[in-house]
Order: sequence, then C-alpha cells, then structure tokens
Amino acid sequence: MIFRQLFDAVSGTYTYLLAGRPGGEALIIDPVIERVDRYLQLIGELDLKLVKAVDTHLHADHVSGLGALRDRTQCITVMGECSRVDVVSMRVADGDRVQIEGVDLEALYTPGHTDDSFCFRTADRVFTGDTLLIRGSGRTDLPGGDARAQYQSLFGRLLRLPDETLVYPGHDYKGETVSTIGEERRFNPRLQVKSADAYVELMGNLKLGNPKMMDVAVPANMKVGLHQEEIARRGWAATAQEAMSMIGRPDTVLIDLRECAERARHGVIPGSVHVPYPSLAQSTCAGGVLHSFAAGGGKRLLFYCAFGERSAMAVQAAQEAGLSCACHLQGGLAAWKAAGGALESLPSG
Ligand SMILES: [Fe+2]
Repeated sequence: MIFRQLFDAVSGTYTYLLAGRPGGEALIIDPVIERVDRYLQLIGELDLKLVKAVDTHLHADHVSGLGALRDRTQCITVMGECSRVDVVSMRVADGDRVQIEGVDLEALYTPGHTDDSFCFRTADRVFTGDTLLIRGSGRTDLPGGDARAQYQSLFGRLLRLPDETLVYPGHDYKGETVSTIGEERRFNPRLQVKSADAYVELMGNLKLGNPKMMDVAVPANMKVGLHQEEIARRGWAATAQEAMSMIGRPDTVLIDLRECAERARHGVIPGSVHVPYPSLAQSTCAGGVLHSFAAGGGKRLLFYCAFGERSAMAVQAAQEAGLSCACHLQGGLAAWKAAGGALESLPSG
C-alpha cells in the first residue's frame, strides 16, 4: 500500500493519502484547502488517480479541501450520513466500506467530538479523526459535541480494536505522528478515567477557547457541495417530477452511477442500467456502452446517483465527450425519494 502522512502546520492537521499501487487509484482523508496544490502535485508525482476524498467530520479549525479536490479531479466526496454539509457525493453509515482499488476502509461511527465523526480502519491501522488523538482526544464542547457519546466511542469502539492497531489521528500539535491502540489505552491521560461520568467531568473542565478559524471554517465546510444550479442553467438537469415522466420512454436510458453497496442499501429506480461512476470515462468514449446508447441508438441519457453530485459531473463529462443528449436527475435519489418516486430493491446476495 502507498501511504503518506501529510501535515498542515497552520491548523496542525494530518491528511492521509492512500493507494493500492503506483499508477492506481488513490483516496485522501481530511484534506486542507490551502494544501490542495501540494496534494495534487504529489498525486501526479506518484502517478495516482484520486477517486475519493473523505472528511472524518465537519471541521471547525480549517476549511476542507473536499470541494476543491472534487472540482479539480472529479473525485467522489465522502462523509458520514448525518453530516450537516449541503452535499457530498456519498454518505456512509457505521459498518459501511469505503473502497478504491487495493484499499478497503471500514467506517466506524464514533460521535462525540462532533455528531458526525467517523473513524476509518484497515486491517492494521485506524484513522481516528478528532475522536482519539495521541495522548489526547478531540474537544467535545463545540456545537454537536457530546462527551458522553465520545466516551462510548472511545471505550466501546476504538479501545476494542487490537492493541497493535496503529493510530493515525486527525491532528497533532506536539509533533507526534503515530501511536497504537495499546499505547493509548495505557498512557493517554484522557483514557485513565473510571467511568463515563468521570470522562464527562474531565472534558467539561478543559476551558478551551474557540478555534481561530471556526467562524470561517464551519460555514465554508457546510457548503462543500457542487453547484448543481449551473448544470440546470445549461438545460442538463431534470427535476424528480420531470424524470418520472421520462421513465419507461423508449428514447431514454436511465443510468445509475452509484456503487453496488449503495444500490443494495437504498434501492434502485426501476429500469435503470448500472454504470458505476469510476467506469464512466470508458463508457462514454467510442465503443463504450453509453456512447453506443447515445450516438448509435439515439437515446437520451439520464444519469442519477445518491445526491446529484456524481451525476452532475457525469453530465459534464458526457457533454465534453460529445454526447449532447445527456442530462441528470438533480438532487439524485434523495430528491427522487422525496418526490415519491418508485424504487425497487435488488435481490440480496
Ligand atoms: Fe475537529
């Protein structure tokens, strides 16, 4: 596995770049907006293709690089299902997997620092965001924080991982880079408490000032979504109501861009064809399945995904590839469901 721990000295943030092999797909965790050029340079130097950008939670101390990375690489943005951000491409729940070629992360819902905090683990390491820090833990006194929930996340989830699991935190302010679960269990002062009540009391007495960037970072990070209005302005969007009237027409092909796990969990729009977002480029070029639908079959392509981000990017890519009949379901399956659109569940297994 290719693994890089990158540091933003201004906010004390660690960003992690993971990939399965040189020349393969890459995933980034907790990117900082001011460092986006550096990430893209490194990704280019390592001959990687960024396909997913993940934030462990809604950050209060720096502006996330998720939106900028999405706009520059058309990667998929990922956060927890209860995050208050306007739009990300994909939302995960506890136990979901965030996968790219050669990398498989398990999402652990660990609220406490915020109500949308997730940790992500592989076989030998865990990216703990601001839930568990080296010899510390993320503050719980900002909006969405809950010390009692964090106690449960720490003692009920993270400390149950094997002792040798490497701990890669979201921040460090003293130059520490990595620890282990066993080391933190024994030496982290926040983890020496005897009860949840004692932890709540400890966290309640920290008397911390607000992060310097908080007034800027939180509103900015809640607006990371792709501006789907621009796609609509160009006439490339269909509302859920409009999409309903297009379903079943012989001149329209409905294309689901989501991953298999999302389709299994949330259902699919009846009659849709599955073309996962990462395979879009090969599908829209000459000889690809979507190219033959559109160019050869004269059909209209109607893309959809979870929230309309991937489909908006797909429309742009299809239009650039010369498929002028492409449009997308604005707001994705979430808008479709809200409008009462029909869904069918996939057979399990
Ligand atoms: Fe944080």
